[in-house]
Amino acid sequence: MKNIIILGSTGSIGTQAIDVIKNNRDKFNVLGIAAFKNASLLLEQAKQLRPKYVCLIDEKTCLDSKDRFQDYSFLEGVEGATQLASDDSCDVVLNAIVGAAGLPATVAAIEKGKVLALANKESLVAAGDFVNDLLSRSKSKIIPVDSEHSAIFQCLIGEDTSEVKKIILTASGGPFKGRKLSSLKDITPAEAVSHPRWNMGDKISVDSATLMNKGLEVIEAHFLFGISYEKIEIVIHPESIIHSMVEFVDGSIKAHLGRTDMRIPIQYALSYPKRIDAPVSSISFEEITSLTFGKIDHESAPCIGLALSAAEKGQSYPATMNAANEVAVEAFLNREIKFTDIGEIVEATLSAHCPVDIGTINDFNDVDQWARTLAKETIEKK
Ligand SMILES: NC(=O)c1ccc[n+]([C@@H]2O[C@H](COP(=O)([O-])OP(=O)(O)OC[C@H]3O[C@@H](n4cnc5c(N)ncnc54)[C@H](OP(=O)(O)O)[C@@H]3O)[C@@H](O)[C@H]2O)c1
Repeated sequence: MKNIIILGSTGSIGTQAIDVIKNNRDKFNVLGIAAFKNASLLLEQAKQLRPKYVCLIDEKTCLDSKDRFQDYSFLEGVEGATQLASDDSCDVVLNAIVGAAGLPATVAAIEKGKVLALANKESLVAAGDFVNDLLSRSKSKIIPVDSEHSAIFQCLIGEDTSEVKKIILTASGGPFKGRKLSSLKDITPAEAVSHPRWNMGDKISVDSATLMNKGLEVIEAHFLFGISYEKIEIVIHPESIIHSMVEFVDGSIKAHLGRTDMRIPIQYALSYPKRIDAPVSSISFEEITSLTFGKIDHESAPCIGLALSAAEKGQSYPATMNAANEVAVEAFLNREIKFTDIGEIVEATLSAHCPVDIGTINDFNDVDQWARTLAKETIEKK
């Protein structure tokens, strides 16, 4: 029996993780759950799962809702979440918090040597060198949850990464595939969050629509697998059946295929190194008439170029890019800016940035705050 902590239990990944756990009660026990401010769903989850710990991260919501959680050990704020991530009895920490707000929990889990099932890609994007430095001094292991990275992780099992020629990250192309940037000005938040293949939280859905998500995933892959950026390629694959591929120096290519169901990589990250039954139907290759591939249209998706250029520059550029993107996506969802302004806000913030090395969490916080403030000011002037 593995004891699992779910941080971000009320989100898309968190609720699907709970589905996986409910299907495997003999294998997984939920030790603790944490959400930001959705106290009602958190309470409902607590009643079903009977975890020892329940945590609300937003301090104002804690004040208002604390009394509802008297049956549990109640933890509060970011400290509560990091306490959960480093609990002695926990076997796997699933970090399914959205945004760089997930970094403290990632750090706490690694420092405590935990198995970290990582959905929170922003931890690695914003502070990859710092996180990897902590990992190199810990017995912690990261098992990726992102479907592409779970696919690559599985393709690399038993392989030597020095024999990798390239990683091929597949991208569905998002809801606006084939459209020119000039036609996207009046896209509404509702249109942007309706992804053709995946049902996800709002932030990652908008990132998928701008294709920023693919840029974030390139950075995530670089830090997870220690592969240089020039060896990571993106290919459009609208059917989303191949989740990603690895090509080796001898020309052999390993691919990971599966249904577009996030419960599969979530379950794998929880059950690793074992595989366990999942209630998914097999893909029928007789029914698939074709698997298609295409090139990214960088002119229509400038966010990818911004992410890749921040990645190449390194230091605090990826943290800056990530923070500006989070602020811009939130402003777009709140209808304060247009869809096409997202890339412009990120670009303006990156252009004004003076890079520093990120060696501590305080270095990260300084850069993150600076970028958020500037991005907000730029939005106010729009
Ligand atoms: N959804 C997917 O299919 C998918 C696929 C691959 C990777 N990912 C990655 O997984 C992560 C979670 O994505 P999601 O789609 O599950 O997001 P989501 O549905 O928006 O859920 C986010 C979770 O994080 C919590 N949260 C929000 N703001 C927070 C903050 N400031 N501090 C701490 N917790 C906070 C939310 O709590 P409340 O509900 O209380 O606000 C919720 O539990 C992201 O990094 C995303 O890129 C997601």
